[in-house]
Amino acid sequence: MRVLAIESSCDESAVAVLDERRGLLAHVLHSQIDLHRVYGGVVPELASRDHVRRLVPLVRAALGEAGSSAQDIGGIAYTAGPGLIGALLTGAALARSLAYAWQVPAVNVHHLEGHLLAPLLEPEPPPFPHVALLVSGGHTMLVDVRGIGDYRVLGETRDDAAGEAFDKTAKLLGLPYPGGPELARLAEHGRAGAYDFPRPMLDRPGLEFSFSGLKTAVSLVVKAPGFDAARRADVARGVEDAIVATLVAKALRALEATQLDTLVVAGGVGANRSLRSALTAAAARRGARVYYPRIEFCTDNAAMIAVAGLARLKAGEHADLAIAARAQWPLDSLTTSDPERPLHES
Ligand code: KG4
Ligand code: ZN
Repeated sequence: MRVLAIESSCDESAVAVLDERRGLLAHVLHSQIDLHRVYGGVVPELASRDHVRRLVPLVRAALGEAGSSAQDIGGIAYTAGPGLIGALLTGAALARSLAYAWQVPAVNVHHLEGHLLAPLLEPEPPPFPHVALLVSGGHTMLVDVRGIGDYRVLGETRDDAAGEAFDKTAKLLGLPYPGGPELARLAEHGRAGAYDFPRPMLDRPGLEFSFSGLKTAVSLVVKAPGFDAARRADVARGVEDAIVATLVAKALRALEATQLDTLVVAGGVGANRSLRSALTAAAARRGARVYYPRIEFCTDNAAMIAVAGLARLKAGEHADLAIAARAQWPLDSLTTSDPERPLHES
């Protein structure tokens, strides 16, 4: 089975071709960062319009890169949610149309399941069951991953996501959108301990997160009269250290709670080098191992949607012709790949 996958949930238009036997044959992506930068964040309407412009040429490019023709494609996978509804609908409409024209099944993929399964593209994939720390711009959660489609959310954020905390504090520091990677770069020049920002919820039991207080704390520092701009790097370092310490502590707590020794890190913030090294070191100290997708598959891409879609298509899942998309879609409502049962809640 060879699957063509489409991702359009936010500000990345992406297409990939994955072959069951030969692996990933192509993945192409157009980032809309330049389009949204002047607004300091993603403008949903502009995102949808740009997906419409980009997706068809990306499908052609991916097929070309894969050396594949439409006849070789046995199924289409597309991100059906959660995400920006207009953006999702552009990918959904294209995916359903291609499936209809090519007379192959199409399958709805949950964006976060894509992130969770991205490490399966690596030469040494993580074993099941494992704990996943899913940290993106929209979500921060710890998930007990029993198998493909079998997810139990152990804890999530009560307010901002980790990526949002990076982005919002970066904005306060005057860094361009998207702030996460910019803040991480600035933090490399900052001194550890110069600012001691709150490590939210660390003092409390449980696996929930809360990052909104960090934004307030940073705002008080940088907006104080006489704040010296030369100390921005120290602030960035303080922010990164606070977020990383919180994520590491809670991830270890989740391993403890589940008695598992495999941790998977997924989502855009998983690209953060300081988080990666802190997690690897902390996990090693307790005899656990951490698996990451390669950096380019931490942030949004279609290769991860292809992995999730292929698993579901192989299990016999496919949806009817309706162009379906959901802005909200709880991860634990997904079910395992059992062909006798509908895989998704309607
Ligand atoms: O998974 P993703 O590409 O999109 C969502 O599904 O949200 O995650 C994007 C988030 C943004 O908040 C971005 O600032 C953050 O991931 N991010 C980073 C880094 N690279 C991306 N945050 C910190 N350090 C990074 N190196
Ligand atoms: Zn994402």
